[in-house]
Amino acid sequence: MKKLFSVLLAIILIFSLAACSGGNTSSGENASSQPPVPSSTSSSAPSETPDSSETPDADVSASQPETSGEEVKILVAYFSWSGNTQQMAEIIAQQTGADLFEIVTVTPYTDDYNELLDIARQEQSDGARPELNAQVENWDSYDTVFIGYPNWWSDAPMAVYTFLESYDFTGKTLIPFNTSASGGFGRSLTGIEESAAGATILEGLDLTEGGLGDAQSRVTAWLDSLDLNG
Ligand SMILES: Cc1cc2nc3c(=O)[nH]c(=O)nc-3n(C[C@H](O)[C@H](O)[C@H](O)COP(=O)(O)O)c2cc1C
Repeated sequence: MKKLFSVLLAIILIFSLAACSGGNTSSGENASSQPPVPSSTSSSAPSETPDSSETPDADVSASQPETSGEEVKILVAYFSWSGNTQQMAEIIAQQTGADLFEIVTVTPYTDDYNELLDIARQEQSDGARPELNAQVENWDSYDTVFIGYPNWWSDAPMAVYTFLESYDFTGKTLIPFNTSASGGFGRSLTGIEESAAGATILEGLDLTEGGLGDAQSRVTAWLDSLDLNG
């Protein structure tokens, strides 16, 4: 009898142990369905974090160049014979972060001032369009173009009109600047408007030779008034 009891007890123990371990197993199964949650959370977290962070990051980094590509891109184009307008152009480019482009004719102008006076007057009366030695690369990428030139016989040098008439100004902002002995823009703004059809022309800045000493501060105040970023 005792043996039978022992055997029965042993059987009961085995079953209860089996039931216990089965409970563990089932809770293990629950846990194993839970861990997938946390572990899938945690395993998906690390595996998804890079994935999901890669995706938005990829989007952000993809959108950043586009955004910066959409920032206002500025060109400062200028013609200068004796360096005054170039000086102004460089200040504007430095203060705006613009690209610089010098308008240069294929046939260079003489170094002789008196001779140049005659040549310039002749070109003006001929309505000449002297050929230029280079083109602006990536013209379409510029939203805003500064155009600088000296006063030659109360007008712009004819090469400036060659430049303006070489490009499509539709949708572009054009901002003139000028240096002179005393005459400022003269009548050039009318010619600029005609040669850059489609451009929105903003208020220009003209400096006399004597005013170039204040060029930095004059340009700063002028650029502020234009509010190009605003
Ligand atoms: C051919 C020529 C014509 C000029 N005509 C005038 C003029 O009509 N009125 C004026 O105020 N200055 C005139 N100037 C002076 C220039 O406009 C002035 O020196 C200017 O700052 C020169 O600019 P740059 O050094 O960029 O060439 C003339 C200069 C040249 C060479």
